[in-house]
Amino acid sequence: MTPKIELHLHLEGAAPPAFIRGLAKEKHMDLSGIFDDRGNYAFTDFWHFLKVYEAATETLKTPMDYQRLTRAVLEESAASGVVYSETFLSPDFCGGRDVGAWREYLHAIREGADMAERDHGITLRGIITCIRHFGPDKARETALCAAETAGDWIVGFGIAGDEKIGKPADYAYSFDMAREAGLRLTAHAGEWGGPDSVRDAVRDLRVERIGHGVRAIEDLALVDQLAETGIVLEVCPGSNVALEIYPSFRAHPIAELRRRGVKCTISTDDPPFFHTTMTREYESLHVAFDWDEAEFAAIARTSLDAAFCDADTKARIAKLLEAADA
Ligand code: ADE
Ligand code: ZN
Repeated sequence: MTPKIELHLHLEGAAPPAFIRGLAKEKHMDLSGIFDDRGNYAFTDFWHFLKVYEAATETLKTPMDYQRLTRAVLEESAASGVVYSETFLSPDFCGGRDVGAWREYLHAIREGADMAERDHGITLRGIITCIRHFGPDKARETALCAAETAGDWIVGFGIAGDEKIGKPADYAYSFDMAREAGLRLTAHAGEWGGPDSVRDAVRDLRVERIGHGVRAIEDLALVDQLAETGIVLEVCPGSNVALEIYPSFRAHPIAELRRRGVKCTISTDDPPFFHTTMTREYESLHVAFDWDEAEFAAIARTSLDAAFCDADTKARIAKLLEAADA
């Protein structure tokens, strides 16, 4: 079985509901409104999902909470065969965008990642992510946290949140700051926004990866542009099906995008919210498109090539992929 590489995972969005309920109990917080009667996160649409996500995040109050979360999340990923993961980290939730506080959260998260690497053999790197519906001014503060902690562990900068608010150009200053600090760039687009949102993110933010990006399929000239320029899509098919952007895996454009030469990777986005795991993504893609081991090995290779980590880390992970292919 080919080891899996995951490039699009929100750390808070990967928090198991039981973990969040445990924190809420410890802190005497009432979060009952965000769960259904089976204990799962409950939401009606994308915008409600963002609200529930932020409500759950209210329980994550200390660096140690984030360290526990990091360990729990990576244990789950490793159980799906993931050997390398990049996770989105938001200083908005970790210390309110204060650089000093953010450093403390980052230290704790990295310790959690080191423990998970020791216990489960999974390697993590971080992508600092601003949140679009919090606005461009807050994004600049987030970018400053990113620039101050850029290095061999914080390897990227991105933007998530409500794609329908504002436009990518509003965030160009933040992306420029991150680029100048040596960070690699990605942006959520083409999930709720149409093809124009992808075109704008590529042009105005000069990103090399797009989070989702699948709605590019509605404009074949854009699809050609993505293929020619080698922009990589962080595709999260199960998330898109759960949020009803597409009715089924069979109707999802990932196979057509790949057929047209676009580099696609596979990720889970916010696993407990969308009931995704990397194992389930692979199984559903196999059922929908009859993809075999060779296809998944090629996707893992594309994903590793598109990872933002340094060459030594890539070489080490590449050996794991090669060993599985042999
Ligand atoms: N934040 C967490 N998950 C997200 C998603 N799927 N789209 C945009 N922002 C998000
Ligand atoms: Zn996402």
